[in-house]
Amino acid sequence: MNVLEDLAIKHPIFLSPMAGVSTPTLAAEVSNQGGLGALGLGASSVDAAKQQILATQALTDHSFQVNFFCHQSQAFNQQRSQTWIDYIRPQFKQYGAVAPTQLDCIYPSFLDHDDFLQLVLETRPKAVSFHFGIPYPHQIQALKEAGIITMVTATNLIEARAIEAAGIDIIIAQGIEAGGHRGIFNPSFDSSIQTSDLVQLLKKHCNLPIVATGGIMTGQDAKYMLKLGADAVQLGTAFVQCKSSNANEAYRKALFDQPITQITTSISGRPARGLMNHWHSQIDTPERPIVADYPYAYDLAKQLHQLASQHGDHGFGAFWAGSQVAKIRALEVPDLINQLVLEMNFNAD
Ligand SMILES: Cc1cc2nc3c(=O)[nH]c(=O)nc-3n(C[C@H](O)[C@H](O)[C@H](O)COP(=O)(O)O)c2cc1C
Repeated sequence: MNVLEDLAIKHPIFLSPMAGVSTPTLAAEVSNQGGLGALGLGASSVDAAKQQILATQALTDHSFQVNFFCHQSQAFNQQRSQTWIDYIRPQFKQYGAVAPTQLDCIYPSFLDHDDFLQLVLETRPKAVSFHFGIPYPHQIQALKEAGIITMVTATNLIEARAIEAAGIDIIIAQGIEAGGHRGIFNPSFDSSIQTSDLVQLLKKHCNLPIVATGGIMTGQDAKYMLKLGADAVQLGTAFVQCKSSNANEAYRKALFDQPITQITTSISGRPARGLMNHWHSQIDTPERPIVADYPYAYDLAKQLHQLASQHGDHGFGAFWAGSQVAKIRALEVPDLINQLVLEMNFNAD
């Protein structure tokens, strides 16, 4: 397939789907500028996801992708969750609050039921992507029959081969530099490959088009990935600072003021890279017990963040960002895309 032609986009630039951060306006701005806009719907109810897709379609006639999580849902582990709640209890206590007694599965998986599939078939976005795993064969079949392009994140060759065997159209090659959750299928196995190495590895062993993602902040970075064989690049962190993202003030400020990242499982129960904050300094100590499963741990983290924020402490936020965040630029979508394209086309040779 030809990525630009089949997706009907002008530039090989994808916006990362970013649950909680992407908005219809941000997605549409990127699409209207010739890139592929994106909605991260993994944290949305079916109704909220529908509203976001319809709102995006009202703002652009161009292609965009929607994104869902394909994790294997875990049954609630009472003992592990209780140990985790007990460990975090002092953080609630310091704000005069009581820790929750129960944790909820706040994010259903695309694999759990077909409601999200039906929504995609009904609203027909150009492309749909999946993180943490591959949809079921009947889901892939239905998307194919509807002419919707499918994409799945791979972080290593095993995942990429499984994606190829499943009949998916495009591999999103996520390197260890990436902001947000590692797309790993098995939450306890991460081969931690850098984006440039992963692109070359997958290019050598797979036949599908490859989209490089992780640590790409400039047109020079993008150009390098294309030179290594990527068909397009996907950027997340670079767009979080745009006015049209859903990032709050504390997050925006931290992107520029504290551009150091670390991967932790403590926030959600799955490894994810974000700006260093209390999770890394206060929670990830040698005494830390095994974190509650994803997304139960995330339920606790969100409650603690809300509580701490009410007391003016934003240090428990999930401020996802890639390792190259220090290269972030304060540019709105049109200027950022223009700049990326200019840098990609600049020939220094
Ligand atoms: C704030 C944020 C939220 C993210 N949420 C999602 C998501 O919902 N689904 C997904 O597939 N990837 C998500 N990612 C990961 C991106 O798809 C991509 O791997 C990452 O943005 C690439 O690294 P970069 O941030 O250095 O550009 C997120 C990344 C960030 C920064």
